[in-house]
Amino acid sequence: MRQVRDHYQELRVRVAETAGLRRTFTVLFRAFDDGVAFRYDLPAQPNLGAFAISEELTEFAFADNPKTWWIPANRRAMDRFEFLYASSPLSMIDSVRSPLTMEMQSGPVVVLHEAHLEDYAAMDLARVGERTLRPALAPWADGVKVRGRTPFVTPWRTIQIADSPAELVPSVMGLNLNPPNRIADTRFIEPLKYDGIWWGMHAGKYTWPSGPKHGATTENAKRYIDFAAANGLRGTLVEGWNVGWSGDWIGTYGREFSFTRAYPDYDLRAVADYARSRGVQLILHNETAMGIGNYERQLDSAFELYKSLGVSSIKTGYVNDKTAEGHAHTGQFMVRHHRKVIETAAKYGITVNAHEPIMDTGERRTWPNMLSREGARGGEYNAGGPDGGNPPEHETILFFTRLLAGPMDYTPGVFDIRLATSSGRARMPGEPRVRTTLAKQLALYVVLYSPVQMAADIIESYEGQPAFQFVRDVAVDWDTTRVIDGKIGDYVVVARKAAARDEWFVGAITDENARDLSVPLDFLDAGTRYRAEFYADGPTAHWLDNPTEMIIRSEAVTATSTLRLQLAPGGGQAIRLRKIP
Ligand code: NOJ
Ligand code: CA
Repeated sequence: MRQVRDHYQELRVRVAETAGLRRTFTVLFRAFDDGVAFRYDLPAQPNLGAFAISEELTEFAFADNPKTWWIPANRRAMDRFEFLYASSPLSMIDSVRSPLTMEMQSGPVVVLHEAHLEDYAAMDLARVGERTLRPALAPWADGVKVRGRTPFVTPWRTIQIADSPAELVPSVMGLNLNPPNRIADTRFIEPLKYDGIWWGMHAGKYTWPSGPKHGATTENAKRYIDFAAANGLRGTLVEGWNVGWSGDWIGTYGREFSFTRAYPDYDLRAVADYARSRGVQLILHNETAMGIGNYERQLDSAFELYKSLGVSSIKTGYVNDKTAEGHAHTGQFMVRHHRKVIETAAKYGITVNAHEPIMDTGERRTWPNMLSREGARGGEYNAGGPDGGNPPEHETILFFTRLLAGPMDYTPGVFDIRLATSSGRARMPGEPRVRTTLAKQLALYVVLYSPVQMAADIIESYEGQPAFQFVRDVAVDWDTTRVIDGKIGDYVVVARKAAARDEWFVGAITDENARDLSVPLDFLDAGTRYRAEFYADGPTAHWLDNPTEMIIRSEAVTATSTLRLQLAPGGGQAIRLRKIP
């Protein structure tokens, strides 16, 4: 969205002990048109200086027993966001992640989340009564949840409210609850599409470590840069370029990772120079494996090197459940770490795309170099893993849950849906592959917002593919968003107007069921003709046995037209609308 209005009523309630230590704090409330938020403000005072929080006793008590859409926050087993969503009545959930989306039986939709998480533990939600939730804070290694000293202010607890799921988006309350931009010169921050040496590793063609199948060779990187340059993608991601990937990098918390030393078959400077000469941003990968000490010790020297090479984008990674020191993945220790990375990156003119991150709480308003992040089961789970990947309904849930927190780097655009080439080997019928149609892969660029969007497949998969024209054309930066229709877990139709361009894009996706949807084009300028380019599922397309059947056609439309979209099971449709001069 181009313009965000910060408009609210505020109430401050001071609370004080009337005897004893006479400690005091203020509860600050803000009421917006689309929700309410509150936080605790602890002023400096004689009897409350340094403190440790062992539990936050805020409660969210519901009269209704809404249907909730959740992923587990089970820190003992796997401390991550990469689960499939489940739905159940509030009275049945245990401990879950935020944002938590809830459909009231009486109609409205309510989303619990937090904003301006800067020096506190991230908030999960644990059920403590029949219909009552309490923040569950991720701990330090010693069990303490938050360490602080007055004056101190907690993150905001936010309650977004809408009449229907389709009215939840775009949500800007979280942005409004963060401090304004701190970066004076934002010219290095550029929304872009990118390709990368990435899917080839996940699917099996390449490896991260050096060796016969090494993906990140100088030559291969140049090929990906050439492809990006030829197709209007402005970035190329390279993973597996730096030493440290061989051996058990997860088990050893990335002890061997260097963020400055490249493998011998990858000439860091030559690739960076080449990218610059082709007008492509090189995106360098920094996998930490949660070896935070190792990463932080190298942070300045690494970013200084990247800056000197003209590299202005990194992708970070935090594959592991805890830090090497035993701190929780989303505890205060990690919240501080992520801030440190964002602020240090800003100092060197570098943007960040974080995987296995902490959840977005609107910090990109203050630090707009915090471009995008993962924080859910992304497309990587579709690369042939034994659990079969993300089911067709997955993205129709993500839109109404994870994406309410902020942009997500989902990595759509897999064209070789059966992984015939990207796996680098002959595959047996029935082996896991992406559960999608080709048209749905295109629609995801419009549906799942991110200012950086990957053309995720290996570049060979795009050769001779007419559908790739949509990936070339689609915008990544938007002025306006309209959710036309949607039902959580079933389908969603979104229209977005490209920033600084007289073009609209429509994306529609469905779960495992075929759908017939009608889309009135009343968002277009009245009295103007547009050329609509459709990328639609073919008549017998099906995610399971006919995923690539597609019809590409175009037609003139106006604001009074209504489109009829037919989506295949597990399918979608992508549309570009351009003014006819
Ligand atoms: C998980 C990330 O989500 C993925 O994008 C990356 O390739 C691997 N970790 C390796 O770091
Ligand atoms: Ca991941």
